Amino acid sequence: MTKSFTPEQEKVLQGWTTHYPYPMMGLLMAMRQVQEWHSCVTTADEEFLAALFKTTVTHVHGVVTFYPSFTTEPAGRRRVCLCRGLSCRLKGSSEMARYLSERLGAPDGGVSGDGSVGFETVECLGACDCGPALSVDDELVGPATKESVDHLASELGKA
Ligand code: FES
Repeated sequence: MTKSFTPEQEKVLQGWTTHYPYPMMGLLMAMRQVQEWHSCVTTADEEFLAALFKTTVTHVHGVVTFYPSFTTEPAGRRRVCLCRGLSCRLKGSSEMARYLSERLGAPDGGVSGDGSVGFETVECLGACDCGPALSVDDELVGPATKESVDHLASELGKA
């Protein structure tokens, strides 16, 4: 098992194993913390969490890859996600994905050259009625339009 946490960070992660009635209930919160610290959840992190929560690496990896909030590769300091689910595709998410990628200077699934912004298309964000659903740092910011994307790009320093 590779350790990649400071003693303080380990203490925080350990805390999530006892925070809820069942240790496994704290796994998601621990993962959120790891994602924030490392900008992703690496294989080494998965191994560490599996040992900590007394489960398998396969289980941890399944959770990491299920939720769009987690990435296995370093994400940008700010994370922009656009839904590519069916409802949003019908509302133009494919075209918006190309536009976002161009305006942010980051390919789908990649990070801008300066590492400041990560962009990815993801499955349903649970906001099908306001598609193409766009989120920044896991917070829904409404439907993506050329205007809202331009505004977001300038807010993120990508004018
Ligand atoms: S299909 Fe896009 S939010 Fe549900």
